[in-house]
Amino acid sequence: MGWLEGEVALITGGGSGLGLALVERFLDEGAHVGVLQRSQSKVDALNKRFGDKIVTVAGDVANFADNVRAVNATVERFGKLDCFIGNAGIWDHYADIVHMSGEQLDKAFDEIMGINTKSLILGAKAALDALIDSNGSIIFTLSNSALYSAGGGPIYTASKHAGVGVMKELAYELAPKVRVNAVAPSGMNVNIKGAASLGQENLGLLDARDPEKIARGMPLNFLPEPEDMTGSYVLLASRQNNRPLTGVLINAECGLGIRGLRQPRAGFFDE
Ligand SMILES: NC(=O)c1ccc[n+]([C@@H]2O[C@H](COP(=O)([O-])OP(=O)(O)OC[C@H]3O[C@@H](n4cnc5c(N)ncnc54)[C@H](O)[C@@H]3O)[C@@H](O)[C@H]2O)c1
Repeated sequence: MGWLEGEVALITGGGSGLGLALVERFLDEGAHVGVLQRSQSKVDALNKRFGDKIVTVAGDVANFADNVRAVNATVERFGKLDCFIGNAGIWDHYADIVHMSGEQLDKAFDEIMGINTKSLILGAKAALDALIDSNGSIIFTLSNSALYSAGGGPIYTASKHAGVGVMKELAYELAPKVRVNAVAPSGMNVNIKGAASLGQENLGLLDARDPEKIARGMPLNFLPEPEDMTGSYVLLASRQNNRPLTGVLINAECGLGIRGLRQPRAGFFDE
């Protein structure tokens, strides 16, 4: 028996990276899964791989009508919705105000905030009635950039910090009916893409950065696979394991917050 037996989850951006790892894990835990995913080729690949175990909708998380279609398709197929996971996102490849033009910053702000932040509010709104019916929960994928500088440029960092505000406000507004929590992963072994408005739509994080260097920057000294992150989501979604948590951000950031001066302690940093 899995922790999510009979539960129904809708996962945005479930076609690759962390979203795909969540689809796999939630199915393994006994859940039924819906996916809202922008790329048609990823939707086709999901359908080919999982067949009628999941329901997929091609659409844009920054568009309210597409979120509504995804919620309706999931509820129609599986009869209810227990958990909405706002996970789709894009990066900014450290787009900074020194090198970007004002016009680029203007366009990139709208695109990245739309996909990373507005989507959380629109998705929650689309799922709200179904989640109230089920006494369900919402989980947002944020980032170490929800907590600290240096995980992106100011726009990506703003988009993820803003996600903390959305999570807390919704946790307050939707209690006691719907629990609202978030997970802040560190960098992962995932080739997340950049912003189209900056010409980065086909440029992945791992195309531009050395994975070993990213790993060395982590106090825990490894670059996590997306699968390493999924346990936090299972905990937050699980009714048996999580009655009390709402408004909680799980810092799944490999110890970045306790880095300190990175001086040797017990000799471990030398290994
Ligand atoms: N990769 C990392 O190192 C890292 C670190 C911290 C946080 N995150 C966060 O993890 C989440 C998942 O990203 P990932 O790393 O798995 O990358 P990914 O690119 O593999 O997954 C993101 C998915 O979202 C989809 N998507 C993008 N824009 C969309 C839109 N407008 N509508 C619908 N779907 C859309 C993409 O097609 C893709 O399948 C993001 O919110 C990201 O910010 C990633």
